[in-house]
Amino acid sequence: MSETRTAAELDQEASVRRVLEDFYRDGKPPWDSGITPPELVALIEGPGALMPGRALELGCGTGTNAVYLARHSWRVTAVDLVDRAVRQARRRPPRPERTSRCCAATPPDSTRWACPARTTCSST
Ligand SMILES: C[S@@+](CC[C@H](N)C(=O)[O-])C[C@H]1O[C@@H](n2cnc3c(N)ncnc32)[C@H](O)[C@@H]1O
Repeated sequence: MSETRTAAELDQEASVRRVLEDFYRDGKPPWDSGITPPELVALIEGPGALMPGRALELGCGTGTNAVYLARHSWRVTAVDLVDRAVRQARRRPPRPERTSRCCAATPPDSTRWACPARTTCSST
């Protein structure tokens, strides 16, 4: 699959990225509550909970949900546009055994991307 973006689209993407980077540079962004949403908790722990599997979190921020999923034995790949957020996500405390979490900045072409295990995965 190939994708060609126009100059206007690339400009718009760069400007969105700058706004997001500013939020993380200035401290804790307003959405970063550190609390996993009840909808996700219900899916993972509620009646009819899903069996642990693989999860891809797009826009992981500082990793609240990626860590939550990893602690519930999900194998998680988490990506975010903002490097600073990804660095914070990687620094989160250890996970239980047999779980792994991989946090990476969003690659230019997400459709062709495989998590580069040697450089960005944290496993316990
Ligand atoms: C509303 S925040 C949610 C963050 C996190 N999931 C949480 O619940 O705390 C949305 C996140 O998506 C990221 N984001 C926005 N557009 C993105 C894109 N095109 N690719 C990757 N991440 C993106 C932002 O940097 C931001 O961290």
